[in-house]
Amino acid sequence: MKHETLTVELGERSYPIVIGEGLLQHAPKLLQEAGISSKSQLLIVTDEHVAKNYLEPLREVLATAGYRTTASVIAAGEQSKSLSVYDRIMTEAIQAGLDRKSAVLALGGGVVGDLAGFVAATYMRGIDFVQLPTTLLAHDSSVGGKVAINHPLGKNLIGAFHQPRVVIYDTSALHTLPKREVAAGFAEVVKHGLISDEAFVDWLKENADRLWELDSELLAKAIQRGCAVKAAIVSEDETEQGKRALLNLGHTFGHAFEALSAYSALNHGEAIAIGMCIAAKVAERVGIAEKGVCEQTERVLSLYHLPTKWPAGLTPEAVLEAMKRDKKTVGGKLALVLPRAIGHVELIKDIDEEIILTVMREEVEA
Ligand SMILES: NC(=O)c1ccc[n+]([C@@H]2O[C@H](COP(=O)([O-])OP(=O)(O)OC[C@H]3O[C@@H](n4cnc5c(N)ncnc54)[C@H](O)[C@@H]3O)[C@@H](O)[C@H]2O)c1
Ligand SMILES: [Zn+2]
Repeated sequence: MKHETLTVELGERSYPIVIGEGLLQHAPKLLQEAGISSKSQLLIVTDEHVAKNYLEPLREVLATAGYRTTASVIAAGEQSKSLSVYDRIMTEAIQAGLDRKSAVLALGGGVVGDLAGFVAATYMRGIDFVQLPTTLLAHDSSVGGKVAINHPLGKNLIGAFHQPRVVIYDTSALHTLPKREVAAGFAEVVKHGLISDEAFVDWLKENADRLWELDSELLAKAIQRGCAVKAAIVSEDETEQGKRALLNLGHTFGHAFEALSAYSALNHGEAIAIGMCIAAKVAERVGIAEKGVCEQTERVLSLYHLPTKWPAGLTPEAVLEAMKRDKKTVGGKLALVLPRAIGHVELIKDIDEEIILTVMREEVEA
């Protein structure tokens, strides 16, 4: 089986991410290598869209290898990251007789991964967890061990850190993913390049056409490098004390756009794509960015069919208010991750609100 591998280095919690076409067929072997034997009962959590194509084939291949599986199928979408769905899966796990040697398999995108991971983190004080990502965006959630569900008062407010034993990334699953979701995933891939790998950004530009068509070899490389950037940062800062903040490039603006468009008009990837462009403009304005950073940021994002311009209907004042709710501010100063160059970002702690407002107002007029 042809594949790329990457180890997320976290001492005794280190785990491999295996990426390649058709890997779901090899799930039994990969589980065994991760120490999950066919004696362990498996709970597969997935959503209705993913289940349609991938659940039965996975269950069959696992059954052939002697694994007993139970499946919890949830409704697709962010609203399933809820206490009530969590409660339902816990009930199904108890009824199915899962014990401390059992494992939870997350077959799906980031929603399934976050929810199933939180189930695994809390069932009997924590059992084994395996991710089988089926979206491109989930390359991001497959590194770092953050698992969570939402509370009506806010996103990801109930959660834990729980690292998977192995991530099995079958790139062929991405062929059924709607193109808008593919683009959203590329927003995070590009982000990982912009944060710390200029050569990766160049490579993403050169190979944009074939990557957009999901060429499996290139896709495996893109996922591997995207994961590697995040893994390097997470290894240094597992519980988010410092460096991990750099992963928020474009996210303070992006979260504000998402919140104000009521999580509908723009998806997460689209919102952070625009956010990264505005961050580059602020960086130029405060004089820390090398020439051309804005242009290059916009260029690479456009190649992946992502928006780069100000979202119609939003006012700079409302966006600034939403940003202040998202991040604590001190005396009218905001901390933002800004690019100095392609492949180099920094957390700048005391940016004057007026500068941010000015840049945003120019964007509205542009
Ligand atoms: N834990 C982390 O570090 C982390 C990082 C980034 C994002 N997230 C979370 O991830 C979530 C977003 O993840 P996402 O973008 O993968 O969303 P998602 O899981 O909702 O998937 C997007 C849509 O694609 C469908 N889908 C998934 N795989 C498919 C396939 N192969 N074929 C056809 N349809 C498919 C899903 O049913 C859904 O409708 C958010 O809740 C976010 O908070 C977590
Ligand atoms: Zn993100």
